[in-house]
Amino acid sequence: MIGEDLQITIGKRHFVELLTQEAIQNRVSELAQGLHTQYRNLDPVFIVVLNGAFIFAADLLRASGLNCDIQFVKLSSYQGTTSTGIVQQILGVQIPLRGRHVVVVEDIVDTGRTMKYFGKLLENENPASIEFVTLLSKPDCHETVFESPYIGFEIPDKFVIGYGLDLDGKARNLPAIYQLAE
Ligand code: IMP
Repeated sequence: MIGEDLQITIGKRHFVELLTQEAIQNRVSELAQGLHTQYRNLDPVFIVVLNGAFIFAADLLRASGLNCDIQFVKLSSYQGTTSTGIVQQILGVQIPLRGRHVVVVEDIVDTGRTMKYFGKLLENENPASIEFVTLLSKPDCHETVFESPYIGFEIPDKFVIGYGLDLDGKARNLPAIYQLAE
C-alpha cells in the first residue's frame, strides 16, 4: 500500500480521500452525543458488526460516555446472490436481549440486506427497542428503506476503504476514508 495523504494505491487500484480524519472525528462526536442523550438512562446493549465497524465503534462508544453492554457479531456473506439470501451470525450475542434497548453499530449500509436480516433476527429476541447506527450509507444502493437518526455520512455509490473498511483485508487502519478513483 502506497500512501500519500490524499491518495492511496492498493495493488492496481487508486483511491482518493473522501472524508478527512477530522471530519470523521467531528461527526463521530456528534453521533455519540446524540446517543448519550437518548440512551443515558436506558442501559443499552450495543452490538458491533465485525469486522468493519471495529474502529468506528471503539471511537463512538468511548465518546458516548454511556453505561452499556457491548457485544460483537460477525455476519456471513449471503448464500447465493439474490436478495433472499440468508445472513448467518458467526459470532453470536452472548447475553439475553429481551426487554433491552439494542443499538446495532455498522460501518456502512450498502444494499441494506445485512441490516434488514439482522434486524429480523433481533426482533425474535423481543428487545425493548432496536436502533441502527452506521458511519456511512449509500442511499443509491439501498434495496429497502433504511431510516435512522444515526447516519454519519451519506456517500455516493463508490467503493470506499479506511477507518475500518477494507479491500481484501487491507486499509482498515487508515484514519481517513478513501473512495475508488474513476
Ligand atoms: P449490505 O448488506 O449490502 O448493506 O452490505 C453491508 C456490508 O458490505 C458492510 O458491512 C461492508 O462490510 C460491506 N461493504 C459495502 N460497501 C462497502 C464499501 O464501499 N467498502 C467496503 N465494504 C463495503
